[in-house]
Formats: sequence, C-alpha cells, structure tokens
Amino acid sequence: MKDILQRKVDHIELVLAQQQDTPPPNGFDKVELEHNALPEEKLTDIKLSTCFLGYELKLPFLISSMTGGPRRAELINIHLTEAAQHLGIAMGVGSQRVALQSSSQSGLNKRLRQYAPDIVLFSNIGAAQLRQDFGINEIRHAIEMIEANGLIIHFNPLQEALQDHGDTDWRHILNRVEEISSCLSIPVIAKEVGMGISTNVARRLINAGVAAIDVAGRGGTSFNRVESQRTNDQKLQALGKLFGQWGISTPKAIMAIRSEFPELPLVASGGIRHGLDAAKALALGADLVGQAGPVLKAAMDSTQAVVDHFETLAAAVRLARFCTGRVIVHG
Ligand SMILES: Cc1cc2nc3c(=O)[nH]c(=O)nc-3n(C[C@H](O)[C@H](O)[C@H](O)COP(=O)(O)O)c2cc1C
Repeated sequence: MKDILQRKVDHIELVLAQQQDTPPPNGFDKVELEHNALPEEKLTDIKLSTCFLGYELKLPFLISSMTGGPRRAELINIHLTEAAQHLGIAMGVGSQRVALQSSSQSGLNKRLRQYAPDIVLFSNIGAAQLRQDFGINEIRHAIEMIEANGLIIHFNPLQEALQDHGDTDWRHILNRVEEISSCLSIPVIAKEVGMGISTNVARRLINAGVAAIDVAGRGGTSFNRVESQRTNDQKLQALGKLFGQWGISTPKAIMAIRSEFPELPLVASGGIRHGLDAAKALALGADLVGQAGPVLKAAMDSTQAVVDHFETLAAAVRLARFCTGRVIVHG
C-alpha cells in the first residue's frame, strides 16, 4: 500500500514536470475547422449545454480522473469538485483503489458530495484490479462512498507493464467487466489513460455492457514516460522510452469510434491542450471533452483557478462555434 501511495505522489510531480516540456504531437493540428464568415447568430447567445448519459451539463466538459496521494488528493479533489459544481460540468475522481484497500480514504468519501451536491460524478477503478482485488461489493462501496452517478473503469495495460510490480495478467477481464456492468444500476464508462481506445476494443466493451467510452488517447500526459522515470529497472526504462509515442491519437480514436457508433456517448480526452483542440474534438463527434494533466496546476492552486481554466476553454469553444456555424456541441 505504501508503494501505491508513493507512486501517486510521484505521478503528480512527474506530470507537473511534463507540463513544462514541449508538448508531443496530439493529432489536432491536422484537423481544420472551416471558417464561416457569415455566422448569422449572436456570439453571446451560443449555448454549450449538453446531455451526457441522461445528465444535463452546462458545459461539455469532464474533469478527467486524477489521484495524488492522500493529503494532496483531498485538496485537489475539493478544488475540482467545487469548480465542477460552479461550472455545471462532470468530474471523475481518481482511482479509488487506495480508498478501498486502506483506512486512508484520500478525501474520497461522502464529504466530497457536500462540495458538489449536484455534479455528475464518476467513480474510478482499474480494470486490472477487477481480476482479484475487487468484486461487486467493493465496487458498490466505491460508488456509495462518493454517491457516484457512474463508474469509470480504466484500461491501462501498457502503464501496468511499464511499472515495477504492475498488473500484467489481463486474462478474463472482459468477463469481469460484463459481470459488473450487469449488476450495476448506474452506467459504466470505459477509458484508457493516454494510449487510446480502438473501435475493436470499444465494440468488445459495448457488447460487455459498457455505456460510454472515453478514448483517453495519445498526445497529452504520457504515463509511459512517467513510469519509466519512476523505475530503477533499466530494462523497464528502455521499454518506456521505446514505447514513448505508443498509442492511438485522440482525434483518430474519436473519428473511428464515432463513425461506427453514431449514438454512443463518447468522451474525447488525452492531449486536449486548449479550447481549439476541444472545439475540434467536439466537431469530430465527441459529446464531452476531458482534461487531466492540463488542469493539475490549477487544481493544486484553488477552486477559482480551476473555474478560470474551464471558462477560458469554454470561451474558445464558443468562439469556434461562432466562426464555423457548425453544431459542435451535440445536445
Ligand atoms: C496526476 C494524474 C493522475 C491520474 N490518475 C488516474 C487515475 O487514478 N485513474 C484514471 O483513470 N486515470 C488517471 N489519470 C489519467 C487521466 O485521467 C487521463 O486519462 C490522462 O492523463 C490523459 O489526459 P490528459 O492528456 O488531459 O492528461 C491520471 C492523470 C494524471 C495527470
């Protein structure tokens, strides 16, 4: 357990350091929105509200799942939930593994709901942990802990394989996803952590009962880099470098999944840097846009910093909508 906690603390430092580097290509530069010189509407009338999995949101944004070690996580989660409440956006908490397996709940308890009684809030658990650590009772407990509106299961085989003592036995996980989806009365959302979800994987997950996909594609926070920076194992370090650019870029994953599943609730996350990337992701067919790493600094600072961050994102999405005349938010 101490190892897991330390890993979460390291993640924060390493992701913050990554934010200072030149960002990797995220694929959105190749997507062009056509300019419309005759909008015939009023910029301030443009609404970005939307509906996701039956829930109303004021803006089409999701604060993507993040953990950060017990003390930090609590403050980060308070800032994020308060901001989500103010903005009317959705939020996923970070992995609840530690909160379920130890006495330290990392701020992931019903108190969190007091900061954000009305938001659409998602639980989070790793697919790899479904094999042995968690059954339906633990999952129900994770959901009740924060009165979640849905359960996010993250699929991160490469991240697990690149870390010391990661979970690399992924046999029968799909069966477990199917069991869990059939037992729960709230929707299950499947996401990656920055390597993307292919149409083939999406199809298998949907057939297993998953209600929504968050592609969490390549181009933003790289856990391959993070894990290879953490390990002292030189072979893992070399593998981390080799697989540094591995994965499906977010725009590619969104386009592929949307063309095969026109009605699927779909989230674009992974490498969304600013409002123009967000606007492009929505134009390509995403229902929501998620961010994790780019919000981390604001989340550590204050609730207001998180609010400002997403208001800036919204202003650019609204402007892109005005200057394209296209419905880029699907309600
Ligand atoms: C500090 C940090 C911790 C994270 N912890 C989790 C986690 O516990 N569960 C999860 O599903 N994803 C986790 N992620 C992955 C993000 O949810 C997201 O999929 C990924 O960072 C790509 O998005 P980005 O490029 O906007 O950062 C974490 C990301 C960061 C930055």
